[in-house]
Amino acid sequence: MILFEQFNSEIVVNLIYILAAMLFIFGLKMLGSPETARRGNLVSASGMFLAVVVTLLDQSIIDFSFILIGVCIGSLIGFFAATRVKMTAMPEMVALFNGFGGIASLLVGSSEYLVGFDPNSALLIAIYLTVLIGGVTFSGSLIAWGKLSEIISGKPFLYKGQQIVNALLLGFILLSGLEMIFFQGLFTENQFQILGIICLLAFTLGILFVIPIGGADMPVVIALLNSFSGLAACAAGFVILNNVLIVSGALVGASGLILTNIMCKAMNRSLANVLFSGFGAVTDTASGETADQGEVRPVNTADAYLILEAASSVLIVPGYGMAVAQAQHSVRELGELLEANGAEVKYAIHPVAGRMPGHMNVLLAEANVSYDVLVEPEDVNPIMETVDVCMVIGANDVVNPDAKENEGSPIYGMPIIETDRAKTVFVLKRSMASGFAGIQNPLFFKSNTRMLFGDAKESVSNLVAEFKG
Ligand code: TAP
Repeated sequence: MILFEQFNSEIVVNLIYILAAMLFIFGLKMLGSPETARRGNLVSASGMFLAVVVTLLDQSIIDFSFILIGVCIGSLIGFFAATRVKMTAMPEMVALFNGFGGIASLLVGSSEYLVGFDPNSALLIAIYLTVLIGGVTFSGSLIAWGKLSEIISGKPFLYKGQQIVNALLLGFILLSGLEMIFFQGLFTENQFQILGIICLLAFTLGILFVIPIGGADMPVVIALLNSFSGLAACAAGFVILNNVLIVSGALVGASGLILTNIMCKAMNRSLANVLFSGFGAVTDTASGETADQGEVRPVNTADAYLILEAASSVLIVPGYGMAVAQAQHSVRELGELLEANGAEVKYAIHPVAGRMPGHMNVLLAEANVSYDVLVEPEDVNPIMETVDVCMVIGANDVVNPDAKENEGSPIYGMPIIETDRAKTVFVLKRSMASGFAGIQNPLFFKSNTRMLFGDAKESVSNLVAEFKG
């Protein structure tokens, strides 16, 4: 406090905000590689801590009691959510947190609007955007959460006249904005009424924006909603004239958009296709449910061991099933035994394997798999024919050859790990069930594929036991 009295506090506060913003930027950069991601998280969190402390010490805070209550409640919820949530339910949690970010911005904008202020168009535009984007983020995130946690159907919800409803809604949103910013009371009786209408329209837009999108595209939607939550916070920063909120909101907005773009590229689809194509509303023939694909060749642990024992190169391709089975530690152990046996072992990581960006990287890092042995699809696809054994562990969509061979497939064009070209492929899964996209996988019927049925952890542990003699 003495520091703030001695110096011009506004300058000091803003200098510390710049330091916080630098920490955010360096932290974000470090999140780009699994090797530095943990430190990046810590650096960004330190930046946020600094920003929060400085904001609280700023003289414009007059009463700490509500803030303290909020910090206690928020910390408790955050602590329990972070420690209790299952790794596989992480995307749902991210969706909820995005939604909370959106509603927080909406409330900040609304309270500034209602407490009375010197109305000027610039401020009103900022309030309008805060409420609108915050509301869309909130309701859209709740729908995304519902779809991912299967509280509501993950299937795209398409209906007749959808485009007309959307066009009408956008028209009303525009009109309500004009009413709030320029007409100020031409069509509505008071501030409460127009604010209520904008909130209602924003919530409706969020719902209608997300329901037509299939569950398989939810990760992209969540990244986009994450970006929206940043934009809402940025707009809220303009409302309350807080520089660090403007900067951090803009950073979240931009990084969310970049992540959205990366994920679209990983699936070889445009954002418009993800948002408007109703992906996942597939017909029976497109899904291949009824198609007769040929013979499935199961293999038992003893035979699989013999083939692995003779292999000089093994490529492990983990997917969502490895996360479900929590097989990462056994997989690492098997990898080490294979290496000790003279094989070259690599792990091919698909950008959308699992259920969240970097899902496989996180699991393998947890199991202490070295970053040096992780490879990307584009590194390994050109040399796939030289791989003796490809072990597909709980992956399905990301190794589906239909993505490159079947133009009628809903995932056609999505880059995959082309395991079907390896000399031998072991697929470790419990049944012939489909993956997230709900489509059959011709890989399971190829002549070089052997299905090792069972829980991934159990199957890998059995192989480990065979190696150990
Ligand atoms: P999926 O295609 O979802 O396939 C996972 C497979 O794991 C299933 O076929 C399942 O077959 C098997 N499995 C489940 N539990 C298992 C267990 N205990 N032991 C062994 N196998 C088990 O996974 P993927 O290849 O990783 O592809 C990811 C998909 O999710 C993509 O479609 C992607 O677009 C989507 N998605 C990705 C993300 C991100 S950002 N990564 C987020 C949400 C959705 P069985 O039931 O027969 O065992």
